[in-house]
Amino acid sequence: MTDKSATLNVEGTDHSFEVRSGSVGPDVVDISRLYAETGKFTYDPGFTSTASCESKITFIDGDEGVLLHRGYPIDQLAEHGDFLETCYLLLYGDLPTKVQKEDFDFRVTHHTMVHEQMNRFFTGFRRDAHPMAIMCGVVGALSAFYHDSTDISDEHQRMVASLRMIAKMPTIAAMAYKYSIGQPFVYPKNDLDYASNFLRMCFAVPCEEYQVNPVLARAMDRIFILHADHEQNASTSTVRLAGSSGANPFACIAAGIACLWGPAHGGANEAALNMLAEIGSADRIPEFVARAKDKDDPFRLMGFGHRVYKNYDPRAKIMQKTTHEVLGELGIKDDPMLEVAMELEQMALTDEYFIEKKLYPNIDFYSGITLKALGFPTNMFTVLFALARTVGWIAQWKEMIEDPGQKIGRPRQLYTGEVQRDYVPLSKR
Ligand code: SDX
Repeated sequence: MTDKSATLNVEGTDHSFEVRSGSVGPDVVDISRLYAETGKFTYDPGFTSTASCESKITFIDGDEGVLLHRGYPIDQLAEHGDFLETCYLLLYGDLPTKVQKEDFDFRVTHHTMVHEQMNRFFTGFRRDAHPMAIMCGVVGALSAFYHDSTDISDEHQRMVASLRMIAKMPTIAAMAYKYSIGQPFVYPKNDLDYASNFLRMCFAVPCEEYQVNPVLARAMDRIFILHADHEQNASTSTVRLAGSSGANPFACIAAGIACLWGPAHGGANEAALNMLAEIGSADRIPEFVARAKDKDDPFRLMGFGHRVYKNYDPRAKIMQKTTHEVLGELGIKDDPMLEVAMELEQMALTDEYFIEKKLYPNIDFYSGITLKALGFPTNMFTVLFALARTVGWIAQWKEMIEDPGQKIGRPRQLYTGEVQRDYVPLSKR
């Protein structure tokens, strides 16, 4: 027992539990023996005070608005690196050397095609299917095509599956978009970088050459970096829980996509833009802010608030800067939604309710404006979030699988239903 411990008195008996410290951030009280010793569970719906695992990948300081990936601040990674460098960092734990980066980029680039028969999946969907519904189905089906990389006990297969997903998500996302607008799929090109390849697969048409705008490609790449990983958020926890049963990595990522879709999580970028469109003009902001504060109104300001950040989401600041760069490059001067967003942000940041509840803009607040300016429809916004977050899900899944202490996740409950009672025959009911 370390010299740091916590004592819990349960029905007159003291029970001592080890307190463990990380390299930074809150200590944890190891209560894994609590039930064995006291016959009692902890109760923490939403896991507001629960550490589900030990991890070395991402650290968030919600009070200070800090986000580190393997120790590197998100603003430095977004400023100086590219998305595949961040992928390497998340997967391997260190920034790549020049040779390692070239090798990793080559391997990812040469896995971007999908099995030709996957095209047939898309024709089974209605054209108006939400692209996230398509992503859930097609990504889950990857295990049907790449069965040679589903043995999670094999380190080589784990890395192959990881690379395949990082490489193929842009292709599948672009196919989902193309299918939804009735245009032919565009194959990846190996002489383009990751973000440029994705933009071309989304926006090129067979009738003419597509020229990638380097400013927009850089902005897309930076948006991927900002969404890459975020500690034990809902979708990452979903991937970890799915993976804890030994499910194959493709199925685990499909589970993460399904969870991310929710408007309280990754679906907030689509919901935030729809909200800005509904507000329409700055003079209607007070009406919506009042609704957000009204306990009887389920309406919330989408793109505001966060379970962990009780300060400005550091990604939102970089996102806001990227928004202005993209609008500037595209010559969009007075985007009405940007005006509403900036006015709404100012109003919320000075409103007592938002100050007291520590509600700040999160990454989803500005991302929608940028993605719309880049040419994406709102129903593609969460697809782009899932594309970028795949590397985070994979890195966290690998860390969990490679943890020697790993076991299947199986929470308990506080049961408040009927106690045992005897069956009543139908004739007597
Ligand atoms: C993402 O976890 C992650 O890391 C997620 C993410 C990632 O990268 O993976 O960062 C990505 O999901 C960002 C969040 C995107 N979601 C939204 O923007 C949707 C709007 N935000 C809310 O739904 C909410 O803020 C959450 C879900 C994000 C956080 O909810 P919590 O932590 O459970 O907080 P809460 O619901 O308990 O809110 C605390 C209080 C409540 O009031 P009281 O009950 O205490 O009186 O603040 C209020 C809430 O009513 N509140 C809001 C609000 N968010 C919280 N009131 C108005 N508008 C909001 N947006």
